[in-house]
Amino acid sequence: MGSPLSRAKGLTVPSFAKVNLGLEVLGTREDGYHELRTLFQSIDLHDRITLRPLPRGIVIECDHPGVPRDETNLAWRAAESLKRRGGVSAGVAIRIDKRIPIAGGLGGGSSNAAAVLVALNRVWRLGLGPDDLHRLARRLGADVPFFLVGGTALGLARGDEVYPLRRQVKAQVVLVDPGRPVSTAAVFARVDAGLTHRENSYTIFRFVSRDLEGVEAFPLLANDLEQAALEEAPDLARTVGRIRGSLVREGALLAALSGSGSSFFGMFDDVQRARRAHAALESQGFAVHRCRTLSLDQYRGAWARALGYNSGRSWR
Ligand code: C5P
Repeated sequence: MGSPLSRAKGLTVPSFAKVNLGLEVLGTREDGYHELRTLFQSIDLHDRITLRPLPRGIVIECDHPGVPRDETNLAWRAAESLKRRGGVSAGVAIRIDKRIPIAGGLGGGSSNAAAVLVALNRVWRLGLGPDDLHRLARRLGADVPFFLVGGTALGLARGDEVYPLRRQVKAQVVLVDPGRPVSTAAVFARVDAGLTHRENSYTIFRFVSRDLEGVEAFPLLANDLEQAALEEAPDLARTVGRIRGSLVREGALLAALSGSGSSFFGMFDDVQRARRAHAALESQGFAVHRCRTLSLDQYRGAWARALGYNSGRSWR
């Protein structure tokens, strides 16, 4: 038997996107972040991350020109933080096959970081538990802890306190990428002026309580970042109006901006309607993805299959 390094071909794991079904900005925090209430939802649109062992160092490979290949990439920082936490001297090459639109409010970079944490914890046999991984994740970014959980979940604090909902949303999702990246930090900076009207807002809590009663309440939900995102990127306003119009015309239960944008999505309970919305938007020249929500169990199942939890393998 050779060493794991000489046998290694690599390990490929999926890295799923999210949308925010709703997002309320409640105030500013002393750490410069914003206090949030949000509903995260995993969708099956995903990047693929392939990890290969190296004798030392961390190398990022990605064919997308907008993805950094240095230590500013969250996946690089995830590997570095795990190396340090576990005292690992070995290195790793991380290849990212990018399919999630970047700077689109879909959490692609955060998802990649969580995927690297979970996969390297496995292949380096570090045995870190959920609490350890959560601590590393929240230092990397506010959205990273959600991607350790997946499915439908409530996000509180900076969005990094994550509570899976008992009833997982099941829907078709039509996702439109207007091809206009928007900076999350810039959008949050703009939102401050309009905070006070949210003091008495409980739409997300009402969604969660109706969820417990078994009633989905999409019309309650709103995204407080939408107005700020459109102020940050005024050229988007007309485009977003057209996208929302098409989604609503085809019967979307919810049509909303994801996170700080600029991806816009519609949720459908009917495949035919989702198909029609997809076709209508594509015929207007938009880049459209038709996808599905992923439940907590589906998300965990995809991880378990990729990491070979039933076969006992590490590097394949
Ligand atoms: O944590 P992350 O680096 O992903 O967040 C990107 C930016 O979004 C932060 O630098 C911050 O400006 C803003 N943000 C915020 N409040 C949050 C989450 C993000 O102000 N709860």
